Amino acid sequence: MCGIVGYVGDKDALPILIRGLKGLEYRGYDSSGVAFIQNDNLKVIKKKGRIKILEEMLTADGYLSEGDDKPAQSDIHMGIGHTRWATHGAPSDENSHPHLSENGRICVVHNGIIENYIELRQLLTEKGYTFISETDTEVVAHLIEYHFYFDCNQDIFASVREALLEIEGSYALGVLCTDFPDLMIAARKDSPLVVGIGDHENFVASDIPAILSYTREILIVEDNEIIVLTKKDVKLYSVHGVLIQRDPIHIDWDSEAAEKGGYEHFMMKEMSEEPKAVRSTVAPRLRNGKIVLDQFPLSAEQIRAARNIHIVACGTAYHAGCVGKYVIEKLCRIPVIVDVASEFRYRDPLVDNQTIVIIISQSGETLDTLAAMREAKSRGASIISIVNVVGSSISREADYVMYTAAGPEIAVASTKAYNTQLACMYLLAFEMSHLIGKISDEEYRTYQDKLLEIPEMIEKVLESRSEIQRFASEHFNADSIFFIGRGLDYALSMEASLKLKEISYIHSEAYPGGELKHGTIALIEKGTLVVCPLTQDSLMDKMISNIQEVRARGAVVLGITTEKQTRASEVCDQVFYIPDVDPLLAPIVAVTPCQLFAYYMSVYKGCDVDKPRNLAKSVTVE
Ligand code: AGP
Ligand code: GLU
Repeated sequence: MCGIVGYVGDKDALPILIRGLKGLEYRGYDSSGVAFIQNDNLKVIKKKGRIKILEEMLTADGYLSEGDDKPAQSDIHMGIGHTRWATHGAPSDENSHPHLSENGRICVVHNGIIENYIELRQLLTEKGYTFISETDTEVVAHLIEYHFYFDCNQDIFASVREALLEIEGSYALGVLCTDFPDLMIAARKDSPLVVGIGDHENFVASDIPAILSYTREILIVEDNEIIVLTKKDVKLYSVHGVLIQRDPIHIDWDSEAAEKGGYEHFMMKEMSEEPKAVRSTVAPRLRNGKIVLDQFPLSAEQIRAARNIHIVACGTAYHAGCVGKYVIEKLCRIPVIVDVASEFRYRDPLVDNQTIVIIISQSGETLDTLAAMREAKSRGASIISIVNVVGSSISREADYVMYTAAGPEIAVASTKAYNTQLACMYLLAFEMSHLIGKISDEEYRTYQDKLLEIPEMIEKVLESRSEIQRFASEHFNADSIFFIGRGLDYALSMEASLKLKEISYIHSEAYPGGELKHGTIALIEKGTLVVCPLTQDSLMDKMISNIQEVRARGAVVLGITTEKQTRASEVCDQVFYIPDVDPLLAPIVAVTPCQLFAYYMSVYKGCDVDKPRNLAKSVTVE
């Protein structure tokens, strides 16, 4: 949640901050702001709303020139910027970051939540500090100022350290102080932060793509570390003030991969990349008829000895886990429990050193998931992670990481990441099942071949997207849409429903086909739209009955089925066909029409497809 960017160097800081913030806007977009030192004063410019509004203000004030993000004046060579996803206090000008300390000589930007902010606020109020925002962040600015004058001898580094020792919760912080006009301080605990190292310039940012056009030398900051940056130097310390030596890593990603490349929305661009993403995830891991998972830590004995497998994740990644449960249980015959990360952590889960835990996360920074992983690790479980972002917290802390090769995913609605998470789940399930002798060598090879056919099938679905578009154009005024399915189609329905909700704001629910009649069918009336994935051949008869039940009550039914299932057209009002895919692998192909459906519904409703209301791409608060 929220994006932080900071610059110190020879160049004009403001265009760099605005460009960086635009790159981070997907992380939060309630409000944005920048701070810089000018004539011995801290200047803060911030505003509720999108970064465009901030940019217009900076242009109107003469800090940026009209039309592009070129500087209008060039005496600002250091600054910090923030794009917010509100946790404490509504999106408003006052609650926007940066926040100033009482005397206006220190300012902070913050990502995360200060959990003891109520106590600290009370303490600081008693000492005479006044608060002008409702945020938890403002206490940090005041607390640093308090230590600056009270016990740190006006040393900003020592004051930040003292403050950090007192605050509880999660943070990535950027700090400026007028008494140190050439120096910027940043710190991190449980919220992402990286440092970019340049030539006579240095950067901090919430993620790497935000600064990739300036530098490819990235220093990963770990929890409880503080960084002191000047234009010539970056020094890394522990929160206790001990200097840490760490080499930067070189990033060789294609920075254009994080740009729209001619598509109207990132979401459409990212769906179009699904065939490539799945291919890049699967193909390099298949060699000479074998699945090669480099340094896979689990032996056949350990898998056999596993009491159960837990899959833990949030949102779309959780739905990938729901597919994983069916697949692993079917192929490995080991019980699998799928948990939403925020629930897992607090329910005293039955996890010990005979448990395998699979953690799934696109960003690798979702705090609920990270915390759940740490909980499982502390109980002795073996942690296998499926992560997209290289070098992210989850990938670094897990015992084993299987990277999805989806490339950067910018749209808040996750699409290609889901397909690749499924690809990894299949690889994992096939490999584990083969290792423990539950599938034969021949089945093992056949599954690999089938997985290799998937990208082409997704391509075919994408080619027929106008059919889905037409369907959406007829139904985008729907108030409520139901997704029903059985088995893997139910797991898929949950993801289809989430996608629709988050970007089109249409109320939607996913139900197991057989469960609707136990209550929810009361909501079906004349004209209610029901979408049914029908990819599980063995459950087809039962689903046909469930479709008849809703149609008898007036529902309009869209079926999504494989070419061979000709019976679907007899019971559905409309049918979208996907290529004939093995039922076990069907969700990885059948999800694409569901994503396209959500996309077009959102477009027809005039919603902001890539940045839906109330959401943020990377959820780094609990
Ligand atoms: C997906 O469309 C969502 N925006 C969201 O549910 C997301 O999948 C979830 O927050 C988990 O994120 P992660 O994969 O980065 O951990
Ligand atoms: N908790 C802070 C706030 O509500 C920071 C939120 C964020 O990470 O954007 O302002």
